[in-house]
Amino acid sequence: MYYKESKTKKLTALILSLALCCGAAVSGCSNSDPSSQAADSSKAETTAAESSTEAESADASADGESSAADESSQAGAVSEPTETHTNVIDGIDYLTLVTHGHRLPDDWEEKTEMVSFTNGQDYEVTIEKRAYEAYTKLKEELEAEGIFVDVDTGYRSVAEQTELTQRYRERYGYDYVKQYIAVPGYSEHQTGLAIDLYLIVDGKPVIYNEDLVKYTDIWAKIHEKLAKYGFILHYMEGKEDITKFSYEPWHIRYVGEEPAKEITEKGITLEEYLGVTLTDEPDTLDEPNYPLNTETIYQVALLQSLVQGYYDGILSVDALKEKGDTGIGTFEGVNGEMIVIDGEVYRADSEGNIEKPEGDEMIPFSNVTFFDVDSTAELKDLKDIDALKKELEKTTQLSKNMFYMVKVNGTFSKLKARSESKQEEPYKMLDEALAETQQEFDFEDIKGTLIGLYCPDYMGDLNTVGWHFHFISEDRTKGGHVLQVSVKEAEAQFDMTPGFKMYLYDEDNFQKLDLAKDVDEAIKSAETKTNGKDE
Ligand code: DAL
Ligand code: ZN
Repeated sequence: MYYKESKTKKLTALILSLALCCGAAVSGCSNSDPSSQAADSSKAETTAAESSTEAESADASADGESSAADESSQAGAVSEPTETHTNVIDGIDYLTLVTHGHRLPDDWEEKTEMVSFTNGQDYEVTIEKRAYEAYTKLKEELEAEGIFVDVDTGYRSVAEQTELTQRYRERYGYDYVKQYIAVPGYSEHQTGLAIDLYLIVDGKPVIYNEDLVKYTDIWAKIHEKLAKYGFILHYMEGKEDITKFSYEPWHIRYVGEEPAKEITEKGITLEEYLGVTLTDEPDTLDEPNYPLNTETIYQVALLQSLVQGYYDGILSVDALKEKGDTGIGTFEGVNGEMIVIDGEVYRADSEGNIEKPEGDEMIPFSNVTFFDVDSTAELKDLKDIDALKKELEKTTQLSKNMFYMVKVNGTFSKLKARSESKQEEPYKMLDEALAETQQEFDFEDIKGTLIGLYCPDYMGDLNTVGWHFHFISEDRTKGGHVLQVSVKEAEAQFDMTPGFKMYLYDEDNFQKLDLAKDVDEAIKSAETKTNGKDE
């Protein structure tokens, strides 16, 4: 299932400033093993994105097509079918299995007649001719019963599947990709016989996977009618060990009426019907073993979008962990303050207590990097946050035009932190939301770590300039956004990062924002305001 970005909507990586990036990017480029280049988006990122535009990156993935497919075919290992089923019409076998270890037949695309049309989202979609005719009848019958569906995607080329893999990898992380996205060259969508449906409920399109799965009653009614028109539900619930993919209620596959009826009556998958067992060592993506890029700050969206009330998630927690092991941010709905340390993501909740979010929780704003220590400094007896900032800048002879992530480990004689509770839609501006839900916590003689981000002055339209600190206690029980702090004794570790990469999301609500609007006052209030007074 594509997300709404399927054809034109995209999670966009905006690469602003990478001229000084050297070591990690070079080592990424020198890794020329083609085995997972097209399939592994993060590798594509280290090879292409570090010094290129997104468009170049897309070219790189298209170039990687053949290498991913070739490698995958070698890796796919399957047992031989125990019985033979075919449904050949005009040279097309409608029972052709394309999945892990089963590559699309070479001559498929040239001998298959496809039909293209524009869907309700204004994207062109393509389906094999017989599947299209069957789909049209299915849609009509559903509409007569008040169920409205449309095609999100049908046919996908290897290049489109590769791009999809990269987008999902960026947004949801590697584990999700393994469960939901076929390796390019091994997707049933390449046959034109598979369709991902989206729903129209109460006149509104429901497109995103996480929303679609909620409509279990509607899917049950749709699934009941599939066989009549020659479709099956391929990736069935409870059959994940056979299909090797997660349940996808939206993904239907045309096989022809007779086989569809038999498969559905028996409650089996296409693999079972064909007598094919998929092994556990297929073509699927290999664990990433590329060198980490420690020289880039990754930013999810803008502080300016968050401050304007864009609290919807852009990347998942799992995806964020693939971009850095240290950083700060918040969660969907501004559900607390985020601290990323030693590769773990923590939430300081509205009580200032720490918990670990689930990997699929989404993130509307964050900055992370893979932390490597470039320099250190001893800090002692700094009376307040301004003294801390000055000392950090002095001791590291801070290059004002670079990004820094800093960890300050030590004892803090006083520390005032804040956090907030999850907002409900419609979302308010951040300063207004905080005015209602912000809670503050005062700690004394507490041990722990400040995670600090320094953004250069020119970042004023994308983030807050200067320093921004979050705190987590040494025992990982307390934390929050730091409003005030006195340092008793601590060591500061600095990581200077010359690269910056920002993720945007081409989604309707994001597009409605006026990001040129001056929200400086609201940012100042959101960053520094205490319940009692301005700092
Ligand atoms: N989502 C299915 C498995 C595909 O990518 O083909
Ligand atoms: Zn699908």
